[in-house]
Amino acid sequence: MKNDLLLRALSGEPTERPPVWMMRQAGRYLPEYRVLREKYGFFERCRIPELACEITLQPVDIIGVDAAILFSDILVVPQAMGMEVQLIESKGPILPDPIKTQKDLQRITIPDIHDKLQYVFDAVALIKKELNDRVPLIGFAGAPWTLLCYMVQGKGSKTFDEARAFCYTQPELAHQILYMITETTIAYLKGQIKAGADVVQIFDSWGGLLGPEDFENISLQYIRRIVKAINGEVPVIIFAKGAWYSLKEMAATGAAGLGIDWCIQPALAREFAGDNITLQGNFDPAKLLSPIPVIKKEVTQMLHAFGNKRYIANLGHGILPNIPVDHAKAFVDTVREWEYSSINAN
Ligand code: CP3
Repeated sequence: MKNDLLLRALSGEPTERPPVWMMRQAGRYLPEYRVLREKYGFFERCRIPELACEITLQPVDIIGVDAAILFSDILVVPQAMGMEVQLIESKGPILPDPIKTQKDLQRITIPDIHDKLQYVFDAVALIKKELNDRVPLIGFAGAPWTLLCYMVQGKGSKTFDEARAFCYTQPELAHQILYMITETTIAYLKGQIKAGADVVQIFDSWGGLLGPEDFENISLQYIRRIVKAINGEVPVIIFAKGAWYSLKEMAATGAAGLGIDWCIQPALAREFAGDNITLQGNFDPAKLLSPIPVIKKEVTQMLHAFGNKRYIANLGHGILPNIPVDHAKAFVDTVREWEYSSINAN
């Protein structure tokens, strides 16, 4: 691997500077992505390995990030389990027949992963070939709880109150579904790893909507099973947005890295997570709309705050579609120009 900063940061080996990538780095803020978006539907872009590969490589070539992340979506898993998923412009994902009752369970299965998601594994293999070991490739999946949110609510939401009420009022049914998603996800991530993914990230975008006890019961116990099943084959990063109160428990799963958002101070996150894990984050994506000199200053402050410990520079959530490309580049360049020795010099 020519640039193995990400792998070294995840295994706790020293690095001269932190690696940097951005969640949702392949996406609408890139004009090159928007060109392909005009021509092909969203799932077409996911399903045609040549397109998924081209989109995955765009931020590596254009922005100069230290890792590629597979272009796909967390919702291909509910799709593979038998649910219809539509991505509607400016509305986000829609699942027209959400799960509400025990009877609806008949409509979903734990699928044969190669039957339903082989196109993802083909994309991973092609991306690995085209990357030619320039940077590591991150594979990913949604956490079971975050996928259940969409499968039950049927659409995006700021609160996912229907999905939360579902878990509290029909706990047995909820756990049956979470179990099915977990089994599917284990096979899916193993398939990505076999096809060549160097790292995998579990996205629990809605973890922070649950209180600490419910987070353990509804989300973390299933994430833990996934991490255990991967059994160190590749490093796993858990990103549970908003679930800062469980960093200690997440660190104990055996994950190599933990993503954090901008609502927790780096020092406090380190205190909770302990020293034997890599932290990833946590720049507020909305700050990338600031003038470039402000971005540079704020990113430098963030790097100081994380200090000379196991660390991957990233945003605290996905990049927004309205971020100018040169602002994204300023974020990445500031990290690339930084060296850990500057901490001692200052
Ligand atoms: O990070 C990357 O560059 C890799 C690709 C990736 C996408 N989605 C592509 C995408 C990844 C890792 C995801 C993860 C994802 N998808 C999450 C977890 C991370 C997060 O941001 O919280 C979630 C919750 C989803 C579900 C999803 N997919 C939503 C809510 C939306 C609509 C909102 C939006 O950003 O448009 C999508 C669509 C989607 N997934 C797009 C992309 C590039 C936009 C599609 C388009 O209009 O071109």
